[in-house]
Amino acid sequence: MKTVAVMTPKGGVGKTTTANTIAYILGQEMGAKVLLVDADPQGDASKTFGINEESGLTNLLENHVMNGGRYSTRDVIFKTAYSNIDIIPADGYLTLTATNLEKVSGKDQVFRFKTALEEVQMDYDYCVCDCGRLLDRVIINILVAADLVIAPIKTGGFEVGALENLNMQLSDIRVYNRGIKVKILLNMARNTLAFRGMEAWVEQRSGLAYFSAKIKQSTVVEQATLKKMPLPEHAAKADVTSSYRKVVEEIIRGMGE
Ligand SMILES: Nc1ncnc2c1ncn2[C@@H]1O[C@H](COP(=O)(O)OP(=O)(O)OP(=O)(O)O)[C@@H](O)[C@H]1O
Ligand SMILES: [Mg+2]
Repeated sequence: MKTVAVMTPKGGVGKTTTANTIAYILGQEMGAKVLLVDADPQGDASKTFGINEESGLTNLLENHVMNGGRYSTRDVIFKTAYSNIDIIPADGYLTLTATNLEKVSGKDQVFRFKTALEEVQMDYDYCVCDCGRLLDRVIINILVAADLVIAPIKTGGFEVGALENLNMQLSDIRVYNRGIKVKILLNMARNTLAFRGMEAWVEQRSGLAYFSAKIKQSTVVEQATLKKMPLPEHAAKADVTSSYRKVVEEIIRGMGE
Protein backbone atom coordinates (compact mmCIF):
# COMPACT_ATOMS: atom_id res chain seq x y z
CA MET A 1 0.00 0.00 0.00
CA LYS A 2 1.22 3.49 -0.91
CA THR A 3 0.18 6.41 1.24
CA VAL A 4 -0.60 9.83 -0.20
CA ALA A 5 -1.41 12.80 2.05
CA VAL A 6 -2.99 15.99 0.72
CA MET A 7 -1.69 18.72 2.98
CA THR A 8 -0.73 22.39 3.13
CA PRO A 9 -0.93 24.88 5.98
CA LYS A 10 -3.42 26.98 3.97
CA GLY A 11 -7.19 26.70 4.11
CA GLY A 12 -9.65 26.50 1.24
CA VAL A 13 -7.07 25.64 -1.42
CA GLY A 14 -8.70 22.39 -2.58
CA LYS A 15 -7.16 19.78 -0.27
CA THR A 16 -10.42 17.89 0.29
CA THR A 17 -11.50 18.13 -3.35
CA THR A 18 -8.11 16.76 -4.38
CA ALA A 19 -8.08 13.88 -1.87
CA ASN A 20 -11.67 12.89 -2.67
CA THR A 21 -11.16 13.08 -6.42
CA ILE A 22 -7.93 11.09 -6.38
CA ALA A 23 -9.55 8.42 -4.18
CA TYR A 24 -12.57 8.22 -6.51
CA ILE A 25 -10.50 7.97 -9.70
CA LEU A 26 -8.18 5.32 -8.24
CA GLY A 27 -10.98 3.23 -6.70
CA GLN A 28 -14.17 3.68 -8.68
CA GLU A 29 -12.65 4.31 -12.12
CA MET A 30 -9.39 2.34 -12.04
CA GLY A 31 -10.32 -0.51 -9.73
CA ALA A 32 -7.49 0.01 -7.23
CA LYS A 33 -8.33 -0.74 -3.60
CA VAL A 34 -8.43 2.57 -1.76
CA LEU A 35 -8.56 3.52 1.89
CA LEU A 36 -9.54 7.18 2.25
CA VAL A 37 -8.60 8.72 5.59
CA ASP A 38 -10.31 11.86 6.82
CA ALA A 39 -7.77 13.67 9.00
CA ASP A 40 -9.70 16.93 9.33
CA PRO A 41 -12.11 17.58 12.22
CA GLN A 42 -14.39 19.33 9.70
CA GLY A 43 -15.16 15.85 8.34
CA ASP A 44 -15.66 17.13 4.78
CA ALA A 45 -14.25 14.02 3.08
CA SER A 46 -16.39 11.79 5.30
CA LYS A 47 -19.55 13.71 4.40
CA THR A 48 -18.75 13.55 0.68
CA PHE A 49 -18.59 9.77 0.94
CA GLY A 50 -21.79 9.56 2.97
CA ILE A 51 -20.42 9.06 6.50
CA ASN A 52 -21.54 11.60 9.11
CA GLU A 53 -20.50 12.12 12.73
CA GLU A 54 -18.26 9.10 13.06
CA SER A 55 -15.05 9.34 15.10
CA GLY A 56 -13.11 6.72 13.14
CA LEU A 57 -9.68 8.35 13.20
CA THR A 58 -10.11 9.44 16.82
CA ASN A 59 -10.80 5.83 17.81
CA LEU A 60 -7.85 4.62 15.77
CA LEU A 61 -5.42 7.10 17.36
CA GLU A 62 -6.74 7.05 20.92
CA ASN A 63 -8.56 3.76 21.49
CA HIS A 64 -6.70 1.17 19.43
CA VAL A 65 -6.08 -2.23 21.03
CA MET A 66 -2.34 -1.61 20.83
CA ASN A 67 -2.87 1.28 23.27
CA GLY A 68 -5.19 -0.64 25.54
CA GLY A 69 -8.41 0.41 23.79
CA ARG A 70 -11.05 -1.72 22.11
CA TYR A 71 -10.70 -0.90 18.41
CA SER A 72 -8.65 -2.73 15.82
CA THR A 73 -7.86 -0.87 12.59
CA ARG A 74 -10.58 -2.77 10.71
CA ASP A 75 -13.14 -1.70 13.33
CA VAL A 76 -12.78 1.97 12.34
CA ILE A 77 -12.97 1.39 8.59
CA PHE A 78 -16.35 2.04 6.96
CA LYS A 79 -17.55 0.85 3.56
CA THR A 80 -18.73 3.59 1.20
CA ALA A 81 -21.32 3.34 -1.56
CA TYR A 82 -18.47 3.40 -4.07
CA SER A 83 -16.59 0.42 -5.48
CA ASN A 84 -13.21 -0.22 -3.88
CA ILE A 85 -13.33 2.86 -1.61
CA ASP A 86 -13.40 2.39 2.16
CA ILE A 87 -12.97 5.24 4.63
CA ILE A 88 -11.69 6.01 8.10
CA PRO A 89 -13.97 8.97 8.88
CA ALA A 90 -13.48 11.93 11.21
CA ASP A 91 -15.61 14.38 13.13
CA GLY A 92 -15.10 17.28 15.55
CA TYR A 93 -13.60 15.04 18.25
CA LEU A 94 -10.43 14.91 16.17
CA THR A 95 -9.45 18.35 17.54
CA LEU A 96 -9.40 16.87 21.02
CA THR A 97 -7.42 13.87 19.77
CA ALA A 98 -4.63 16.19 18.63
CA THR A 99 -4.42 17.64 22.16
CA ASN A 100 -4.66 14.23 23.83
CA LEU A 101 -1.81 12.84 21.72
CA GLU A 102 0.47 15.58 23.04
CA LYS A 103 0.17 14.01 26.47
CA VAL A 104 1.41 10.65 25.19
CA SER A 105 5.09 10.05 25.74
CA GLY A 106 7.89 9.56 23.25
CA LYS A 107 7.71 8.15 19.76
CA ASP A 108 4.30 6.62 20.38
CA GLN A 109 2.94 10.15 19.97
CA VAL A 110 3.74 10.20 16.25
CA PHE A 111 3.83 6.54 15.15
CA ARG A 112 0.31 5.46 16.09
CA PHE A 113 -1.23 5.92 12.63
CA LYS A 114 1.66 4.27 10.79
CA THR A 115 1.63 1.27 13.14
CA ALA A 116 -2.17 0.88 12.95
CA LEU A 117 -2.07 1.06 9.16
CA GLU A 118 0.30 -1.90 9.00
CA GLU A 119 -2.64 -4.10 10.01
CA VAL A 120 -4.35 -3.43 6.66
CA GLN A 121 -1.27 -3.09 4.42
CA MET A 122 -2.36 -6.02 2.26
CA ASP A 123 -6.00 -4.97 1.98
CA TYR A 124 -5.40 -1.77 -0.02
CA ASP A 125 -3.29 -0.46 -2.91
CA TYR A 126 -3.54 3.18 -1.86
CA CYS A 127 -4.24 5.10 1.30
CA VAL A 128 -5.30 8.70 0.51
CA CYS A 129 -5.43 11.15 3.44
CA ASP A 130 -7.25 14.47 3.52
CA CYS A 131 -5.49 16.64 6.09
CA GLY A 132 -6.65 19.59 8.12
CA ARG A 133 -4.66 22.78 7.88
CA LEU A 134 -2.92 22.65 11.28
CA LEU A 135 0.25 20.67 11.75
CA ASP A 136 -1.02 19.11 14.96
CA ARG A 137 -0.26 15.65 16.37
CA VAL A 138 -2.92 14.05 14.16
CA ILE A 139 -1.37 15.42 10.98
CA ILE A 140 2.15 14.57 12.13
CA ASN A 141 0.93 10.97 12.54
CA ILE A 142 -0.34 11.03 8.96
CA LEU A 143 2.84 12.55 7.55
CA VAL A 144 5.05 10.04 9.36
CA ALA A 145 3.19 7.33 7.39
CA ALA A 146 3.08 9.16 4.03
CA ASP A 147 5.13 8.33 0.95
CA LEU A 148 3.96 11.44 -0.90
CA VAL A 149 2.53 14.79 0.17
CA ILE A 150 0.46 16.62 -2.41
CA ALA A 151 0.33 20.34 -1.67
CA PRO A 152 -2.35 22.18 -3.64
CA ILE A 153 -1.81 25.93 -4.02
CA LYS A 154 -3.87 28.72 -5.51
CA THR A 155 -3.24 32.43 -5.84
CA GLY A 156 -4.52 34.77 -3.22
CA GLY A 157 -1.36 35.85 -1.45
CA PHE A 158 1.19 34.33 0.91
CA GLU A 159 1.61 31.13 -1.20
CA VAL A 160 5.38 31.37 -1.20
CA GLY A 161 5.47 31.74 2.58
CA ALA A 162 3.04 28.84 3.00
CA LEU A 163 5.21 26.57 0.87
CA GLU A 164 8.33 27.60 2.75
CA ASN A 165 6.48 26.75 5.98
CA LEU A 166 5.46 23.39 4.58
CA ASN A 167 9.04 22.66 3.59
CA MET A 168 10.23 23.51 7.09
CA GLN A 169 7.52 21.35 8.64
CA LEU A 170 8.46 18.43 6.39
CA SER A 171 12.11 18.71 7.30
CA ASP A 172 11.04 18.07 10.92
CA ILE A 173 8.97 15.07 9.76
CA ARG A 174 12.00 13.65 7.90
CA VAL A 175 13.52 12.75 11.25
CA TYR A 176 10.81 10.05 11.46
CA ASN A 177 10.12 9.51 7.75
CA ARG A 178 13.20 10.01 5.62
CA GLY A 179 11.63 9.02 2.33
CA ILE A 180 8.71 11.48 2.33
CA LYS A 181 8.30 13.38 -0.96
CA VAL A 182 6.34 16.55 -1.66
CA LYS A 183 4.75 17.64 -4.91
CA ILE A 184 2.95 20.91 -5.61
CA LEU A 185 -0.41 20.89 -7.38
CA LEU A 186 -1.28 24.19 -9.06
CA ASN A 187 -4.97 24.56 -8.35
CA MET A 188 -7.76 26.91 -9.39
CA ALA A 189 -5.58 27.97 -12.33
CA ARG A 190 -6.65 31.15 -14.10
CA ASN A 191 -5.20 33.17 -16.93
CA THR A 192 -4.20 36.07 -14.72
CA LEU A 193 -0.90 37.80 -14.10
CA ALA A 194 -0.98 36.71 -10.46
CA PHE A 195 -1.49 33.04 -11.34
CA ARG A 196 1.12 33.04 -14.09
CA GLY A 197 3.59 34.68 -11.70
CA MET A 198 3.00 32.02 -9.09
CA GLU A 199 3.27 29.29 -11.73
CA ALA A 200 6.62 30.67 -12.91
CA TRP A 201 7.88 30.78 -9.31
CA VAL A 202 6.83 27.17 -8.66
CA GLU A 203 8.25 25.85 -11.92
CA GLN A 204 11.45 27.86 -12.18
CA ARG A 205 12.51 29.03 -8.74
CA SER A 206 10.93 27.08 -5.93
CA GLY A 207 13.13 24.02 -6.39
CA LEU A 208 10.05 21.92 -5.50
CA ALA A 209 8.59 19.07 -7.51
CA TYR A 210 5.23 19.86 -9.11
CA PHE A 211 2.55 18.08 -11.14
CA SER A 212 2.65 18.97 -14.81
CA ALA A 213 -1.15 18.68 -14.87
CA LYS A 214 -2.84 21.78 -13.43
CA ILE A 215 -6.40 22.09 -12.17
CA LYS A 216 -8.37 25.00 -13.62
CA GLN A 217 -10.75 27.10 -11.63
CA SER A 218 -14.22 25.81 -12.45
CA THR A 219 -17.74 26.27 -11.12
CA VAL A 220 -18.25 22.54 -11.69
CA VAL A 221 -16.03 21.88 -8.66
CA GLU A 222 -18.07 24.26 -6.49
CA GLN A 223 -21.28 22.51 -7.59
CA ALA A 224 -19.86 19.11 -6.62
CA THR A 225 -18.86 20.50 -3.21
CA LEU A 226 -22.35 21.93 -2.69
CA LYS A 227 -23.91 18.58 -3.54
CA LYS A 228 -21.39 16.79 -1.26
CA MET A 229 -20.56 14.56 -4.21
CA PRO A 230 -17.17 13.39 -5.52
CA LEU A 231 -16.23 15.61 -8.49
CA PRO A 232 -15.91 12.80 -11.07
CA GLU A 233 -19.36 11.51 -10.16
CA HIS A 234 -20.88 14.98 -10.55
CA ALA A 235 -19.00 15.82 -13.76
CA ALA A 236 -17.28 12.80 -15.31
CA LYS A 237 -16.55 14.61 -18.57
CA ALA A 238 -15.50 18.02 -17.27
CA ASP A 239 -12.03 19.39 -18.06
CA VAL A 240 -11.15 19.61 -14.38
CA THR A 241 -11.99 15.94 -13.89
CA SER A 242 -9.77 14.99 -16.85
CA SER A 243 -6.96 17.07 -15.33
CA TYR A 244 -7.32 15.17 -12.06
CA ARG A 245 -7.05 11.90 -14.05
CA LYS A 246 -3.69 13.17 -15.35
CA VAL A 247 -2.65 13.95 -11.77
CA VAL A 248 -3.52 10.38 -10.80
CA GLU A 249 -1.44 9.04 -13.72
CA GLU A 250 1.49 11.11 -12.48
CA ILE A 251 1.00 9.78 -8.95
CA ILE A 252 0.99 6.18 -10.18
CA ARG A 253 4.06 6.75 -12.37
CA GLY A 254 5.89 8.56 -9.57
CA MET A 255 5.23 5.74 -7.15
CA GLY A 256 6.59 3.15 -9.52
CA GLU A 257 3.46 1.11 -10.13
N1 LIG B 1 -10.59 23.86 -9.19
C1 LIG B 1 -11.50 24.53 -8.48
N2 LIG B 1 -12.26 25.49 -9.06
C2 LIG B 1 -13.17 26.19 -8.36
N3 LIG B 1 -13.44 26.01 -7.07
C3 LIG B 1 -12.72 25.05 -6.42
C4 LIG B 1 -11.71 24.28 -7.08
N4 LIG B 1 -11.17 23.42 -6.17
C5 LIG B 1 -11.82 23.65 -5.00
N5 LIG B 1 -12.74 24.63 -5.16
C6 LIG B 1 -13.68 25.15 -4.14
O1 LIG B 1 -12.94 25.78 -3.10
C7 LIG B 1 -13.57 25.52 -1.86
C8 LIG B 1 -12.55 24.86 -0.94
O2 LIG B 1 -12.23 23.58 -1.46
P1 LIG B 1 -11.81 22.39 -0.50
O3 LIG B 1 -12.84 22.19 0.54
O4 LIG B 1 -11.46 21.24 -1.37
O5 LIG B 1 -10.49 23.05 0.13
P2 LIG B 1 -9.72 22.65 1.46
O6 LIG B 1 -8.32 23.07 1.24
O7 LIG B 1 -9.97 21.22 1.78
O8 LIG B 1 -10.42 23.56 2.56
P3 LIG B 1 -10.26 23.46 4.15
O9 LIG B 1 -8.96 24.16 4.46
O10 LIG B 1 -11.46 24.14 4.69
O11 LIG B 1 -10.20 21.99 4.51
C9 LIG B 1 -14.78 24.65 -2.13
O12 LIG B 1 -15.92 25.46 -2.20
C10 LIG B 1 -14.48 24.04 -3.50
O13 LIG B 1 -15.64 23.78 -4.24
MG1 LIG C 1 -10.69 20.34 3.55
